Amino acid sequence: MIRIRPHREADPAAVEALLDRSFGADRHRKTAYRLREGVAPLDELSFAAFDNGELRGSLQFWPVRVRPLQGGGAPVDALLLGPLAVDPAFAGHGIGMGLMRVGLRRARLLGHRLVILVGDLPYYSRVGFRREGAEGLRMPGPVDPDRLLVHELAPGAAEGLEGLIEKPEGQATLKVTETDLDNRRETLS
Ligand SMILES: CC(C)(COP(=O)(O)OP(=O)(O)OC[C@H]1O[C@@H](n2cnc3c(N)ncnc32)[C@H](O)[C@@H]1OP(=O)(O)O)[C@@H](O)C(=O)NCCC(=O)NCCS
Repeated sequence: MIRIRPHREADPAAVEALLDRSFGADRHRKTAYRLREGVAPLDELSFAAFDNGELRGSLQFWPVRVRPLQGGGAPVDALLLGPLAVDPAFAGHGIGMGLMRVGLRRARLLGHRLVILVGDLPYYSRVGFRREGAEGLRMPGPVDPDRLLVHELAPGAAEGLEGLIEKPEGQATLKVTETDLDNRRETLS
């Protein structure tokens, strides 16, 4: 029987092995990792799935913020969902969905308003992620824009939101200009 438990109960080495298997050992080169480097995941939102004590799934959230690029308003706090990974031998049993439902429910209860991720819309739309509302968001590196998705925990949280997704206050180390972002977008198209 699959049990969903707080992520801290998982063996960190088993988590790393699952993530390497799911995303490749070079996963740290992905843009999303720029937002995670040097920042701790949110313990209270992160969950793991176990079958007879064996790790079968892992979901963590990181804190981020959206900083308006053109002088418009204060940064907006958000969550970055992921990485989400499920042992391929246990795929299709609802583990991924189960982990997300638990994490998102907890996030809403704790008053978080907005969740962002990079992933496949057909999968994540099942738990409420969509592309609308993410059009004005920019990651600090190349991503496929069609895979940048948002989920409003508070209705309207993504409405009109534009800016650069970055590490939370005090942890932002990247200085990205709009010209950089335009160049990066060009390299993707
Ligand atoms: C994607 C992943 C998390 C799904 O986990 P899972 O526990 O097998 O998913 P669930 O059992 O909750 O959901 C399975 C359903 O989602 C569908 N699905 C799985 N991955 C999908 C994708 N990338 N796009 C669309 N649908 C997908 C399955 O076909 C299945 O559909 P069904 O219910 O109609 O049969 C898992 O396959 C995985 O770890 N993949 C490698 C890492 C990865 O891609 N992570 C997500 C990107 S951040």
